[in-house]
Amino acid sequence: MGVITVDYPPVNAVGHGVRSGLVAALDAGLADDGADALLIVCAGRTFMAGADIREFGKPSAPPTLPEVVARLDAATKPVIAAIHGTALGGGLEVALACHMRVALKSAKLGLPEVKLGLLPGAGGTQRLPRLVGAAKALDMILSGDPVGAEEALALGLADAVEDGPSPLDAGLRAAERLLAEGNIPQPVSARTGRIAGTDPALFATKRAELAKRQPHLFSPHRIVDAVEAAVTLPFAEGTARERELFLACMDSPQRAGLIHAFFAEREVAKIPGLPADTPTRDIRKVGVIGAGTMGGGIAMCFANAGIPAVLVDTAQEGLDRGVAAIRRNYEATARKGRLTAAQVEERMALIHPTLSYADLADADLVVEAAFESMEVKQAIFRTLDRTCKPGAILATNTSTLDVDAIAAATGRPQDVLGMHFFSPANVMRLLEVVRGAKTSDSVLATVMGLARRIGKVGVAVGVCYGFVGNRILHQRGRESMALVEEGASPEQVDRVLTEFGFPLGHFSMTDLAGIDVGWRIREERRKAGDPEAQAPNWLDTLAERGRYGQKTSAGVYRYEPGSRTPIPDPEVATVIEEDRRRRGITPRAVSDEEVRERCLYAMVNEAAKILEEGIAARPVDIDAIWLHGYGFPSWRGGLLFWADQEGVGRIAETVQRYHRDIGGPQWRPSALLLQCAAEGRPIGC
Ligand code: 3HC
Repeated sequence: MGVITVDYPPVNAVGHGVRSGLVAALDAGLADDGADALLIVCAGRTFMAGADIREFGKPSAPPTLPEVVARLDAATKPVIAAIHGTALGGGLEVALACHMRVALKSAKLGLPEVKLGLLPGAGGTQRLPRLVGAAKALDMILSGDPVGAEEALALGLADAVEDGPSPLDAGLRAAERLLAEGNIPQPVSARTGRIAGTDPALFATKRAELAKRQPHLFSPHRIVDAVEAAVTLPFAEGTARERELFLACMDSPQRAGLIHAFFAEREVAKIPGLPADTPTRDIRKVGVIGAGTMGGGIAMCFANAGIPAVLVDTAQEGLDRGVAAIRRNYEATARKGRLTAAQVEERMALIHPTLSYADLADADLVVEAAFESMEVKQAIFRTLDRTCKPGAILATNTSTLDVDAIAAATGRPQDVLGMHFFSPANVMRLLEVVRGAKTSDSVLATVMGLARRIGKVGVAVGVCYGFVGNRILHQRGRESMALVEEGASPEQVDRVLTEFGFPLGHFSMTDLAGIDVGWRIREERRKAGDPEAQAPNWLDTLAERGRYGQKTSAGVYRYEPGSRTPIPDPEVATVIEEDRRRRGITPRAVSDEEVRERCLYAMVNEAAKILEEGIAARPVDIDAIWLHGYGFPSWRGGLLFWADQEGVGRIAETVQRYHRDIGGPQWRPSALLLQCAAEGRPIGC
């Protein structure tokens, strides 16, 4: 048996070196009379995890990946792939071009190209249907989600599943067994059994589904075309069609956006000025203060990652309610088949409800998620300072308050920082990690590492009102409200935003979050005589009428019982008209273009100010925050990546025009934005 080992850390991406190496090793193996078969195995943590994404957009140096797989397909000796870790994208395509695939039990196999705005471009759309059938192949390629080794075996994607210990041992053992059985299968390209008789209606159904669910996206539609070609055309013609469709995806701006989003998620973990070897602290046990919706969701994040969490509240009733909500949440997940009953109990057992702060004495980190009041939070931090062991990290989940003022309530401000989770905390991937003036490097590095451990995208930000995400959201909200006051309807604003690609419009989102939250804050400020408090607006009128949003089945929209579909409500239109009359505003027709510009350009202008002030270190941090916390369409890359596609010059000019025509601090142009426009340089890189 000849063994070909691919060794290209960290993930054995199939870059130029790997491609040439594979061809050279294949040639040598085929010429070697001592080798009756060849085994491809990878060193390190994984099988090949795909084509080398860093090479995209540059001319592909030969041998190209399609050339490599064609050579494997035509090999005159059996070639077997031994898969461990993840065989993804071009990596799985290499394996698909082998005669057989042996997977370690823990391996995962998938074609995730769709997540990068692509389709499998090295035969994946042609070979996968030949192994698993067109319907399953479409499911796998359209979702991009991998399957486990056992499922791959059941589907016919893998020929054997082995225990290990190493991929080499497993590969050699299985290959020798399979070869001894003497049934060397045909190359996958020559197999037609699983695609013969595919119902053509499958493709029409998929197209209709996509038109409804993913109308914005380019590559899924091409994936259906490519898989259809696999069942309607001979292999060579199907492959040529796949190539054509792959190149069209490669040229699409969505591919550039999605790849920016892929790297953004990884880039934010590397904080400028914070060396990768910064010492971190062990986090084995955490505490969460406050068993409300937020605190409960945060405790779940830790339990989901196997980290015990002490959940503290001031009253037994609140604690019981919080724990019951957590259980309901887990049980709902179990009903959907995503957790077993035993896993629900395991996670519940990791959450220890208590009324006593003393139970936090040995916690390595405590997240406070109590009522949003400086007085309350400072009192909690004084108690934590007295109770927690030296070196414990004290974090606040505040979304609006000054983290430095909270830290000042303790004798250890170097151990204090913000961990701003987004609701629902157990679902949303974003975590703003708020670095206070005195937060130590080791505390920041520990919490960034912890964010990854609990499956979050941690982004470091500085202290200011609303931090990065909400500060930008506030500007979009202000413009959305102003547009409605001037004559647009909430439905129009929401439609423009969903057409842009947001999953929800601004007012649907307000209904989801609850109108009462903002109303109570505004009321407090008005009562306190805050000179910057805004006069009551039509949203306040809705809240006064008990229209809090989805939770009361009525807010900016109305909702049928049990439904989340917003339905425009004439009562709201009347409230808006009365509000305009009270303010002496004669409504005018507002164009969709104006809605788009005012909502999105105000966001870009604020983002540029955040960069100027150093609250976010890099544009990519802002992109990641909006991608993972607010549903910014990933195929647009992120707010500032998109701003460059839109044209910084155009945005700067429009911001200046609105500053002249509308005024207000939100339209004061950012100096950085003006400078980028003047110098013709991008703001997003
Ligand atoms: N090309 C280049 N670099 C890659 C890469 C790829 N395909 N996949 C991962 N990397 C890099 C990451 O950027 C990261 O770099 P960094 O350390 O400098 O930040 C490093 O490898 C480690 O990646 P992760 O931090 O993501 O490590 P994880 O262990 O969490 O995850 C993974 C590993 C599951 C392989 C994940 O990286 C992943 O999903 N990668 C992308 C896989 C993919 O999309 N493949 C398809 C590519 S397109 C294709 O193959 C086209 C073909 O059909 C022609």
